[in-house]
Amino acid sequence: MRLFKLPFNNKKEKNVEISTDLSENIPKHIAIIMDGNGRWAQKRGLPRIAGHREGMDNVKRIVKAANLLQVEVLTLYAFSTENWKRPSNEVEYLMRLPIDFLQHYLPELVEENVRVQTIGEAQDLPANTQKAILNAKQQTADNTGLILNIAINYGSRFEMIRSIKEICEEVQEGKYGIDEITENTLSHHLYTSQLEDPDLLIRTSGELRLSNFLLWQAAYSELWFTETLWPDFHTEEFEEAIRDYQKRKRRYGGI
Ligand code: FPP
Repeated sequence: MRLFKLPFNNKKEKNVEISTDLSENIPKHIAIIMDGNGRWAQKRGLPRIAGHREGMDNVKRIVKAANLLQVEVLTLYAFSTENWKRPSNEVEYLMRLPIDFLQHYLPELVEENVRVQTIGEAQDLPANTQKAILNAKQQTADNTGLILNIAINYGSRFEMIRSIKEICEEVQEGKYGIDEITENTLSHHLYTSQLEDPDLLIRTSGELRLSNFLLWQAAYSELWFTETLWPDFHTEEFEEAIRDYQKRKRRYGGI
């Protein structure tokens, strides 16, 4: 039996409800480190991939909630450049997840006006994963609702090195001088050049670190951590994180 042949939960997430009192000061860009899938499965005596499978179902719920709340961008950390070190069956399953997710959920994403984008080195993913992602991007390219930005084969340090190399080349070509390099120069070379920085960054599962995720972009993000494992992080807690964000005073280093 191939381990990744877990059945897909095909039910529509029609039951996602959001609170109506949350409309003021919604973070425009929310980034999430969806951690704890493995532990969720282990606690139930299941293989780790069962946790990823359940985690994918939760992606459906949180995407729906974010869209209803009129969040503009939701960036989800689906696979890091370091995740290739995991056992091959787990990597294989994680590469299969976007295919299953998009095969089953794309019509709903299209219907709900969600636009799919990715950040990361997509060209190094297996061909069928790339194909599914490209198809989703093409089919949702004109959508104007939530941007579902999937960080896949993404690593922030790699992203910065890649950008610095591009900047060096442009300096060598004489497009601008070293003295003209500003924060904006680097920002414009990152995968996220078309997006505003995250306002709120959430990490589930009790780990208190950024794990090479959006290190530059999260310079002034509000951080929110929870012990809850990703598959159990449902709409209510997502809203709790947003409520907490709404109480914060963002000073960006000022007073
Ligand atoms: C970290 O949990 C989670 C991941 C490496 C994968 C996250 C992927 C999904 C939730 C599904 C992606 C969905 C789409 C749409 C592509 P972990 O395995 O590190 O958990 P652990 O710390 O408990 O072991």
